[in-house]
Amino acid sequence: MSNVRPENMERITNAQLANAFIEEQVKALKQQIGDKKVLLALSGGVDSSVVAALLIKAVGNQLVCVHVNHGLLRKGEPEQVIQVFRNQMSANLIYVDAVDRFLDKLAGVNNPEQKRKIIGAEFIRVFEEEARKLDGIEFLAQGTIYPDILESGPVKAHHNVGGLPDDLKFELVEPVKLLFKDEVRQVGLALGLPESMVFRQPFPGPGLGVRCLGAITRDRLEAVRESDAILREEFHNAGLEGKVWQYFTIVPDLKSVGIRDNVRCEQWPVILRAVNTRDAMSATIEEIPYSVLKKITERILSEVDGVNRVLYDITPKPTGTIEWE
Ligand code: XMP
Repeated sequence: MSNVRPENMERITNAQLANAFIEEQVKALKQQIGDKKVLLALSGGVDSSVVAALLIKAVGNQLVCVHVNHGLLRKGEPEQVIQVFRNQMSANLIYVDAVDRFLDKLAGVNNPEQKRKIIGAEFIRVFEEEARKLDGIEFLAQGTIYPDILESGPVKAHHNVGGLPDDLKFELVEPVKLLFKDEVRQVGLALGLPESMVFRQPFPGPGLGVRCLGAITRDRLEAVRESDAILREEFHNAGLEGKVWQYFTIVPDLKSVGIRDNVRCEQWPVILRAVNTRDAMSATIEEIPYSVLKKITERILSEVDGVNRVLYDITPKPTGTIEWE
């Protein structure tokens, strides 16, 4: 398949077009792969999930999915990958608990670029180790999408596994590489993936690592994960899910004095961010209703350990980036 989208290629905007795409791809994948095995790094994000579902339909258990839990995923994500792919779709799924490995490597590392590098390099190392344990793999599937090829997409580099050593250079299988994100979502729905997976908000490859500012510690990372889960739940309850482009929490590496049970205590603040954008190059702020902000604040202060303040970041991009990093 060429890397250029043909000018006459129809935009996939409905289930009928999605089904036609699936039928065509399943045929092409069967032909490309034959009776060989394919390996896929399955993060649970939209793109890799759609590729997994397409391949399961085409070649079933010849697909081997590897899900690496690097400890920087959102609450419930590894469980959802197991539930959907192993339990519902009967996929051949290898779950790798690499939490300690990643967090040990990241301990004491302050510099954001260094953190990203460690996460990316460790991911490739874990994936490589798993690949070496398997026999007869000839293909590597990737959730490359068209904006990745155009290099102008809303999100930065994927966790693709292009850094594998030479003796593990498999033939690439990239069935959605000519599709735009909205088309990938249509295909995901037609393949029966849950809406919560298909319409997931963008999530950076280094995960919560870019929202746990400074050197990551397990307790502060837990504060990011728990506060993010509360924010998402309350957005769901308020009907804001799907209406706001991206929303999450950040926990900086600083403490301020507060008071708990009549005792002064130094704890972290949680920062809320909720933005709207078309292309992530600029962003505006979602005006969260005050009652929702109040509910989120109350819950974070009573349910998340180590936190004594909640702040709401109303900085547009520019000047602020979407992530704090
Ligand atoms: P910024 O913070 O630059 O982010 O305004 C723009 C968008 O990109 C996402 N982002 C990433 N996505 N890998 C990704 O796949 C990354 O390393 C990464 N860093 C930021 C960010 O969440 C926002 O949607």
